[in-house]
Amino acid sequence: MQFAPPAYIKHQALLKWVADIAALTKPNAIHWVDGSAEENEMLLAQMEAAGTLKKLNPAKRRNSYAAFSDPSDVARVEDRTYVCSKEKADSGPNNNWMAPAEMRTTLNGLFDGCMRGRTMYVIPFSMGPLGSPIAHIGIEITDSAYVVASMRIMTRMGRAVYDVLGSDRPFVPAVHSVGMPLADGQVDVAWPCNKDTKYIVHFPETREIWSYGSGYGGNALLGKKCFALRIASTMGRDQGWLAEHMLILGVENPAGKKHYVAAAFPSACGKTNFAMLIPPKTYAGWKVTTVGDDIAWIKPGADGKLYAINPENGYFGVAPGTSVKSNPNAMAMLHENVIFTNVALTDDGDVWWEGMSKEVPAHLTDWQGKDWTPASGTKAAHPNARFTVSATQCPSLDAAWDDPAGVPISAFIFGGRRSSTVPLVFEAKTWEDGVYMAATMGSETTAAAVGATGQTRRDPFAMLPFCGYHMGDYFQHWLSMGEKVKQHAPRIFCVNWFRVDEDGKFIWPGFGDNMRVLEWMVGRVNGQAAANETLLGWAPNYADLNWTDMAEMDSALFDKLMTLDAETWRQELVLHDEWLAKLADRLPAALAAKRARLGKALAV
Ligand code: OXD
Ligand code: MN
Repeated sequence: MQFAPPAYIKHQALLKWVADIAALTKPNAIHWVDGSAEENEMLLAQMEAAGTLKKLNPAKRRNSYAAFSDPSDVARVEDRTYVCSKEKADSGPNNNWMAPAEMRTTLNGLFDGCMRGRTMYVIPFSMGPLGSPIAHIGIEITDSAYVVASMRIMTRMGRAVYDVLGSDRPFVPAVHSVGMPLADGQVDVAWPCNKDTKYIVHFPETREIWSYGSGYGGNALLGKKCFALRIASTMGRDQGWLAEHMLILGVENPAGKKHYVAAAFPSACGKTNFAMLIPPKTYAGWKVTTVGDDIAWIKPGADGKLYAINPENGYFGVAPGTSVKSNPNAMAMLHENVIFTNVALTDDGDVWWEGMSKEVPAHLTDWQGKDWTPASGTKAAHPNARFTVSATQCPSLDAAWDDPAGVPISAFIFGGRRSSTVPLVFEAKTWEDGVYMAATMGSETTAAAVGATGQTRRDPFAMLPFCGYHMGDYFQHWLSMGEKVKQHAPRIFCVNWFRVDEDGKFIWPGFGDNMRVLEWMVGRVNGQAAANETLLGWAPNYADLNWTDMAEMDSALFDKLMTLDAETWRQELVLHDEWLAKLADRLPAALAAKRARLGKALAV
């Protein structure tokens, strides 16, 4: 195997690291990824020939492909995800931990020769606009061409990254292998992975990522959850900024006044839909624009305000449920240059997934390659099927989405999936109150991660699977950031789009109508919207929201959405206590005090 790095790479530590990984993993060849269009075409053609990608009918989806994963490799694997800080206590009860030396021994064993028979790709990428003071650089080494093609969409990837890196700037080293070496003459499979052994490992002190055995999404595209959340949250703690599981959107009123808000929802709770919201007709003259749909990096600017960038360059969105009704902007951006994974195929070479259209096709090929009809009784697309598409194809893309300076944040929104208990919307009275509500947020689980669905789990700040250190320290970091930005601290709101009625039907229509709630929140920021004081904070009265063209939402139904039942909240506090007890060793006193105040108000 020839090492031969391109002459334009001047970073000796990087070259040494790549040489060390090659010596360990023993690939057949090294490919230094430059990010060019020709390189991308070559890789796509190679994957098509290998059966990893299926080209879709160009008349339906130009230059687009479908990939189908192994059935054992369909989602993030939280139980195989580790944060190996030096001290176990620093990783917190929210992370799996193993002593770094022990984990390194395990990884050295697994990675020894794991790329035999394969090409090792070296991918330079920037999370955030190249050279932005909020951005950071990573290098991913992988033996998966699917990862290279996906990283080209999801990050700013390619040769220009080496110019920013120069000879000595820091980068996050990230090593990925599908964990399936090929013996001499062994024929590859369409989706190589390791069915038995998976490890997604972070070393926060040395800012390293090692991922083994999975080729899917957040397990393999290491810029996303591993770097932009787990490692970056630790960098943020140490350097005074925030790395959050948040979408960023802009909302502009007809007078041209614009605000940016950042919103945290657990996985598969409609973040992409909210980020690309199209307001109802009655909002003529209003504009909602998209900066990001999943992750926000937020740093204090020279003026004391918080500025956010979307560190990503594309969307890795959940396909099922995406339709012209739920997200017309997403549907419009999926016509060309898309990589779909685990969707179903129509007989004329297009894609389909549950919820895409009212009419269900009479025949499909399901995500496992089997014939499918509506009578099959199975899902045609996997519930965690995804699309991977460049941000630049989004019709609602914000003009400042690529601005290295970021956008100023006026409000944070936190929302879980709760069929009861939590009202449609309220505003925390103080930063501390908001941090408490986000810290105790619960959500019913979905298919974005392997495991049971439909159970309520605490998912503080929607960061439970993504915080790279002890959650108690993370809460303290949020409290400290509030103190740092003082009067510039954004308002904090909580929402719940998912409340159901006695028949289990959603009461709130969601999607575009979330604009009505957004308008109220922006009105609060501007000091223009009225509110009523409740147990949890400031809440709108029926008359405080715009109900034009929504006659079905009378005040009785609105009351159901906003009900704050004392007994239900006494029970909810028991669940808060169970959760907070897990963090007791590092729970900030301010949050314990807020819990005590809530208890007093509810007489428990
Ligand atoms: C995602 C997730 O893929 O949160 O964005 O799981
Ligand atoms: Mn996410």
